[in-house]
Amino acid sequence: MAATWLKDAVFYEIYPQSFYDTNGDGIGDFNGIIDKLDYIKDLGCNALWINPCFDSPFKDAGYDVRDYKKVAPRYGCNNDLYRLFGEAHKKGIKVLLDLVPGHTSEEHEWFKMSQKAEKNEYTNRFIWTDFCFQKAADLNYVGGESERSATYALNFFKCQPALNYGFLKPEEPWQLPMDHPDVIATREALKDVMRFWLSHGCDGFRVDMASSLVKHDDEKKSGTSAIWLDVRKMLDAEFPEAAMVSEWSNPPLALRAGYDMDFYLNIPGGGYSTLMRDYAIFGMEEHEDNSYFKKDGDGDINRFLDEYLKWYEDTKGVGYISMLTCNHDTNRPRYTLEPDELKLAYAFLFTMPGVPYLYYGDEIGMRYLELPTKEGGYFRTGSRTPMQWTKGKNLGFSEGCEDSLYLPVDSAADAPTVEAQENDPDSLLNMVRGILALRHKEEDLQADAEFKVLCSEKGKAFVYKRGSLTIAVNPSNKEQTAPVAVEGEVIYSIGKATLGSQITLAPQTFVVVR
Ligand code: NOJ
Repeated sequence: MAATWLKDAVFYEIYPQSFYDTNGDGIGDFNGIIDKLDYIKDLGCNALWINPCFDSPFKDAGYDVRDYKKVAPRYGCNNDLYRLFGEAHKKGIKVLLDLVPGHTSEEHEWFKMSQKAEKNEYTNRFIWTDFCFQKAADLNYVGGESERSATYALNFFKCQPALNYGFLKPEEPWQLPMDHPDVIATREALKDVMRFWLSHGCDGFRVDMASSLVKHDDEKKSGTSAIWLDVRKMLDAEFPEAAMVSEWSNPPLALRAGYDMDFYLNIPGGGYSTLMRDYAIFGMEEHEDNSYFKKDGDGDINRFLDEYLKWYEDTKGVGYISMLTCNHDTNRPRYTLEPDELKLAYAFLFTMPGVPYLYYGDEIGMRYLELPTKEGGYFRTGSRTPMQWTKGKNLGFSEGCEDSLYLPVDSAADAPTVEAQENDPDSLLNMVRGILALRHKEEDLQADAEFKVLCSEKGKAFVYKRGSLTIAVNPSNKEQTAPVAVEGEVIYSIGKATLGSQITLAPQTFVVVR
């Protein structure tokens, strides 16, 4: 069962490259995160997820790990990260690191050893065929790059060879079964990495491509799930308060595989994408943006609920579904939503069951910037720009010269900043602080309290219960009513509601009623 501290956890995701630079080299660092812990705490976040900060050639922004136990020098040294754990803990903030179990960088020592013609301890650490011209079945593969006469399977980009956790039902001699000793050694190596960071003070992991481990797995991911359950056994015995969140987006499978939380991701056509991102991506046919939180979008909350409720009912008491504002792989919500629309979207996300995640900068409505690719980011690069702290040099991100910055800062005259929004009681930043403070105060708004829909008819106000509280939402620019009797004290509001035998909400309204 989930780590107990998750009940009231609110996570802040930090892309370390772009958060805060304290040594003027144009790139964020661990000391920068330490300097901003009070800001994070005041925001209402009590846990961090830091994107990969390990030694890497950075062909995929650090998701190509060259050494799992050493941090990338550009962020500091291992001791700086240990100090970050300690300082965060003093302020009641937990820290998750990003674990990349499915692949390494092609520059990892294990892979270099695995490429050798002569058999060694790492020969089977990655997935290799038996011959230099042999296809790796239906897996993406690379040939012609090693001394060894074989091709190897990839897990993502060309720079990311797949670690070998075996095949569920091997069909060719090069496909090893899950119980092959060399394959078990991969799993043990993963546990060793986890133990290393947990014993130095980290509180758990966000797990990259968590469903990708066992190849030719079945629909239920039985092979991969068995590995995670084995990892969970180790955690329960050795680090019972460690928390794990999966990049899987299938809570019924992920949570039963031992995860505490699973991200509800922006999968085109999926329920979450209909809330804020119902626009064409990845070459989809152009269509109108009918996102639920677009005020003129004619959205329908049922497109979200149809998927969410099934998952919610199925996983209650097993683990948590994690709603997120955005992450380093998706366009920022500000891409299509204005701050007035974001306020309603965030009020909703941050009062849902499960454990919410806020991506750095979304709290001030940072824009998605159209930029050339950086470190394998491609379209994602626009969501990875430096945090905007002040109106000063480089928007307060770095004292370095402008052309040394990891990515350019938003050059718009009205680029949102923390400084400006701190002084504006109506700002998005202060709204986020307010709703997160309420969440921490009211147990009924936290991870475990029941969620029950009272009215979800299209065109009517969306009304639901969280525990004993009633919440009503109208994101549209037209007044909406719901045929539900709601009486009581309004304890939080954006906009205006009229309570009674039915509830009427002015345009763009969100209320919590006790
Ligand atoms: C998912 C990560 O979020 C993404 O940024 C990365 O490129 C791939 N996994 C590969 O590790």
